[in-house]
Amino acid sequence: VTPPMIAPSILSADFANLSSEVASVAGSDWLHVDVMDAHFVPNLTLGLPVVQSLLRVTDIPLDCHLMIEDPGRWAPPYAEAGAHNVTFHAEATDDPVAVAKDIRAAGARAGLSVKPGTPIDDYLAILDQFDTVLVMSVEPGFGGQSFIPGVLDKVRLLRDRVDHGELRILVEIDGGINDDTIEQAAEAGVDCFVAGSAVYGTADPALAVQKLRGLAES
Ligand code: DX5
Ligand code: ZN
Repeated sequence: VTPPMIAPSILSADFANLSSEVASVAGSDWLHVDVMDAHFVPNLTLGLPVVQSLLRVTDIPLDCHLMIEDPGRWAPPYAEAGAHNVTFHAEATDDPVAVAKDIRAAGARAGLSVKPGTPIDDYLAILDQFDTVLVMSVEPGFGGQSFIPGVLDKVRLLRDRVDHGELRILVEIDGGINDDTIEQAAEAGVDCFVAGSAVYGTADPALAVQKLRGLAES
């Protein structure tokens, strides 16, 4: 898949009808699955059993965003189950390299995510261990929050390193992405755009994805 990529977040979908909700965004590049444990973030969503069920009903590669404590323990099973990309939070572990190695060994892309207030500088030296960097543009925990433009400095820095061949990662952004904010994120150099409420909060999710992709391309 070549950027720009759109990854609808099922956090804003109807959890009682996940299979039809997933089918409604069939043209998407990745499907973003927010796993929350009520400890790392003040919200609780879904876990491995739901991911396993989703894998049975869709061919869209699953992008699992683990907002959980102790990713060293919980992340590898998502890769083993067949998730395409497994992203965990830098703030949740003392040994991100070990977690990334385990995710890759289990056959998935490894992703590192940073909250809006977490600088990326401390992690630049280890980013060769990762396939994806997910820059949070809202505080993790809930959909429907407002985009924080200040995080785009991190995107620009990552873009620069990728373009100069120093890093080989996909730059992903998550939080507050909609028709009004996606262009500034695209301009800063994002490859993959997560969108929850901007996709599932509309009457026609497929059209919303198309529209977002068009704006990201322009
Ligand atoms: C928030 C989640 C996001 C969320 C984004 O913690 O990580 O993936 O679904 O929702 P929107 O696009 O509505 O900001
Ligand atoms: Zn997310």
